[in-house]
Amino acid sequence: SVEVVIVPDAKAGGELIAAAIGRLLRHKPDALLGVATGSSPLPIYEALTAQVRAGGTDASRARICQLDEYVGLPPGHPESYRSVVLREVVEPLGLTEASFMGPDGSAEDIEGACAAYDRALGEAGGVDLQLLGIGTDGHIGFNEPCSSLASRTRIKTLTEQTRVDNARFFDNDIDQVPHHVITQGIGTILEARHLVLLATGEGKAEAVAQTVEGPVAALVPASALQLHPHATVVVDEAAASKL
Ligand code: GLP
Repeated sequence: SVEVVIVPDAKAGGELIAAAIGRLLRHKPDALLGVATGSSPLPIYEALTAQVRAGGTDASRARICQLDEYVGLPPGHPESYRSVVLREVVEPLGLTEASFMGPDGSAEDIEGACAAYDRALGEAGGVDLQLLGIGTDGHIGFNEPCSSLASRTRIKTLTEQTRVDNARFFDNDIDQVPHHVITQGIGTILEARHLVLLATGEGKAEAVAQTVEGPVAALVPASALQLHPHATVVVDEAAASKL
């Protein structure tokens, strides 16, 4: 079953998870760390950066990989997930693009780019620790409700709800939010050795309850965590309020 850890607030959640990443890096300095975008994981990246700057953690050999990406944004677009991960994670940790891998959302052959990325993750030795956020509709990565629990990295169409949720990153203009995305599949995500989902705030309470206590169902993609031998869900009091 999924391990649930309740923390007082997002900052404490970030520190707890950053400490776990620090332990992983001590034991495996070149660990492959799967990172998620959205607001929820930001406290993790802040705490990890602080740990590295204080000299407590050596992340110089860490490798970073992306969970998902918008399709069709120009490569340097500030809200492409590649740009976001470089800005929020890779650069603050003192790493370069050489330590980073992600799917190519501006490829001409999107299906080929999906398959190539899925393969590359395996060839890199697999993800050691995958960070996850959760959508209000229970999605992980961009695996929207009804995604196959065995799915691989592929192109998906966003739901209206997710485009509304993400419009804040695009000047609150939903028309600027791409319709299509590349996401690691649920089957791909489940291959990571440790899954760590951080959810904070009242708005995630229902999705968290369904994830942890509901049936394993394609309607709630995050419920697939129950199939994983080592999955941890870190929540603040508000996100835990429906457990
Ligand atoms: C996006 C990302 C997800 C993320 C979700 C929640 O849809 N693709 O990986 O978990 O947003 O974002 P937030 O943490 O900002 O609520």
